[in-house]
Amino acid sequence: MFNYKQRLFLYKNRIFAPKLKTFLLNVYFINYQQFKKLAVVGVFTNNIDFIIMDAIYRKFGITTIITVYLLILVGGIVRSTGSGMGCPDWPKCFGQYIPPTDISELPEDYKTIYAIQGREIADFNAVHTWIEYVNRLLGALTGLFILITAVLSVSFWKKDKIITILSFLALIGVLIQAWLGAKVVATDLHEGMITIHMIMALVIVGLLIYAVVRSYNGLLNVEKVINSSKVNLIAFASAGIAFTQLILGTQVRENIDSVAKTLGENLRSEWIENLGMTFYIHRSFSILVLLLHVTLIYMIWKNTSKNGRIQKLGKSLLAILIIEVITGVIMAYFAIPKSLQPVHMLLASVALGIHILLILFINFDFLFRKKEI
Ligand code: HEM
Repeated sequence: MFNYKQRLFLYKNRIFAPKLKTFLLNVYFINYQQFKKLAVVGVFTNNIDFIIMDAIYRKFGITTIITVYLLILVGGIVRSTGSGMGCPDWPKCFGQYIPPTDISELPEDYKTIYAIQGREIADFNAVHTWIEYVNRLLGALTGLFILITAVLSVSFWKKDKIITILSFLALIGVLIQAWLGAKVVATDLHEGMITIHMIMALVIVGLLIYAVVRSYNGLLNVEKVINSSKVNLIAFASAGIAFTQLILGTQVRENIDSVAKTLGENLRSEWIENLGMTFYIHRSFSILVLLLHVTLIYMIWKNTSKNGRIQKLGKSLLAILIIEVITGVIMAYFAIPKSLQPVHMLLASVALGIHILLILFINFDFLFRKKEI
């Protein structure tokens, strides 16, 4: 049995693909301090290659989660700029892998060639086409990242099968998401389909967050929670209420989309007053959301150590929700500025991710400490 210094030496002097491994170790994924920490854990697993793979999984997993959020943001930009039909077909765009930049590159009767459900498409708009195209490229990249994350998760199979299972579930999720994406286009951006598409993105991000947090077992210092059953109750209630608010928000967005179709862009300032009851419920529900989260912060503050991870997460969650409400109010009273629509949606998605993290951290003892890697 080697100690970690000997392992480091052995590792650094390996003959097998040394350049690639040194690159991964030194340049991208982990620095020396982190590696030393990991090597200490490695003493118990007796397999340095797996330790490196595990570290790569963690870093890659985080990169993938950030990419999914970026995709959610870009998806929101697609919608707020009305670029959803920028590419009328799928997976190609106007029958090409790299879409046109000018109408002259399209056949004369392109509006009927690419008709959707028998209806001619709108005039070609290069900006819309390219926004949608970037969205698809980022979607493909995210898919690839999720695939790599799943493959890397295999290194955990013997230690914690749940990590591998969750990562592969995220992969299945992304395949379903691609299929849903095609359906969104085929149904001419049906409002309900957009909502399902968004919820699926949140499921994927949730699976990845859980998997990546599990992969940090033994490496993360999470403070103990006193009165954990009470804190848990409020944390679950806050997450449930925030999720309900998110669903209500998607209903407001569905209403906005149909009102926008009827009134058109020129009457944008009148969209809000033409919304149904859902908007008022969504608006007022924010009070409950905020109150519950203030209670959560108070409970966390009372029952965990100062400036620990849980407290920091709680504070950022409250800050995000306050900004969320501010963006909502600005949208409601200033004719829904296009730039705020994707921000409002992204913040709600990030808040959900933080809820998952928070609940995992509050239950860290129960979930992880008993079976260290
Ligand atoms: C905790 C607070 C809030 C959360 C978590 C939240 C969440 C959401 C979500 C997830 C959407 C759907 C976005 C989409 O699918 O594109 C949405 C839409 C919307 N929300 Fe909120 N919201 C909150 C507070 C508010 C407030 C206070 C207002 C107004 C006073 C508001 C006004 C709107 C409007 C106008 C839309 C439609 C935006 C669009 O068409 O893109 N929201 N909200």
